[in-house]
Amino acid sequence: MRARTDGFVPAPDAIRRAFAGATSAELLFFLRQCLERGAFDHALALGDALPDAASEPALALTLAVARFLAGERVDARAGVAELVRTRPTDLNALAVLAEMDARSGDRAAAVAEFARLVDAYPDYPGAQPTLAALLMPGPPYREVLRAIHAALRPATYLEIGVAAGATLALASTAEVAVGVEPVPAPLEHVLPAGARVVNETSDAFFATRKRDEVFGARAVELVFIDGLHLFEHALRDFVHAERWCGRESTIVLHDCLPVASATASRERRTRFWVGDTWKAAWALAEQRPDLRIRTILTPPSGLVVVRRLDPTSTRLDEAGAVIAGLMPLAYPLAPGVWPGQLHVVPNTPAGLAEALG
Ligand SMILES: C[S@@+](CC[C@H](N)C(=O)[O-])C[C@H]1O[C@@H](n2cnc3c(N)ncnc32)[C@H](O)[C@@H]1O
Repeated sequence: MRARTDGFVPAPDAIRRAFAGATSAELLFFLRQCLERGAFDHALALGDALPDAASEPALALTLAVARFLAGERVDARAGVAELVRTRPTDLNALAVLAEMDARSGDRAAAVAEFARLVDAYPDYPGAQPTLAALLMPGPPYREVLRAIHAALRPATYLEIGVAAGATLALASTAEVAVGVEPVPAPLEHVLPAGARVVNETSDAFFATRKRDEVFGARAVELVFIDGLHLFEHALRDFVHAERWCGRESTIVLHDCLPVASATASRERRTRFWVGDTWKAAWALAEQRPDLRIRTILTPPSGLVVVRRLDPTSTRLDEAGAVIAGLMPLAYPLAPGVWPGQLHVVPNTPAGLAEALG
């Protein structure tokens, strides 16, 4: 049964007259207009009135979307699956099939299809965020960070990499919150009273300042590392930040759990890019068994929570060999295969409690 928007659609003759001589591209534009306005029945009426034109793959695909949205999910999906089978390089068909499976609750099929899509074209609109959301169900990282602030209520907070200020704005309990950001762009978020931004690279910041000047005679209780997405930088940020921490402090690293290897290389080749920061987490797990590492499966790329810090540790002072060893690696894991040494925990209140344990 087709869901009708208002029960009336133009007669086939009227449609044929209106679109006599229209090109496929013009028909496609019209169908998109129908979809944007929720007039799925009107789109389907055009397909019925012009069956020859509607067999063109892009039109057939758009009509399948209209059919799916009109409630004929099984038939619509079957048509798209057939398109994918006969046209395996048609990325639009693959994207539609993946989206249909995700919306229908077939998570395993959707993950496989989105993974294939991202592999073929990592920047396909919406593909990576949807794949990440499927593989890491639960709230996105900023919400998890908000929950970490609520649980720890840090009096002192340091953030490396501020961008528009969305995460620095979460430091509402901190009497002193400092964000380090080399690009002096305007903030889009209102910062809490105790927060300020220092426009420097993290290397310059740590090289020229002492903790007491910045935070008074206090350890930094919570650190969020979300700066330059390169292995050695992220590792250096950790080493410097740990020295400003106490044993009860927490350091959180972003972007260490890629869902697609194309986004996880040193050279930026994709719109969404996590770089090779994941190697910093791997190096910590390998070189610092004294640390307690848990990784929350929060989209789009996880949060690594590091506890039981040792501000006196010198273990990574001479990290050249570790860096050289991991540097040539390409991200080796398939989407949804998580590195055991990062101890992933679910993106739930229980997972968060475990990460902060
Ligand atoms: C992913 S954004 C931060 C996003 C922010 N934490 C949030 O979640 O809304 C990364 C930021 O790191 C900054 N950055 C780049 N190189 C840096 C460096 N050497 N030190 C500190 N920050 C750096 C970039 O300018 C960029 O604004």
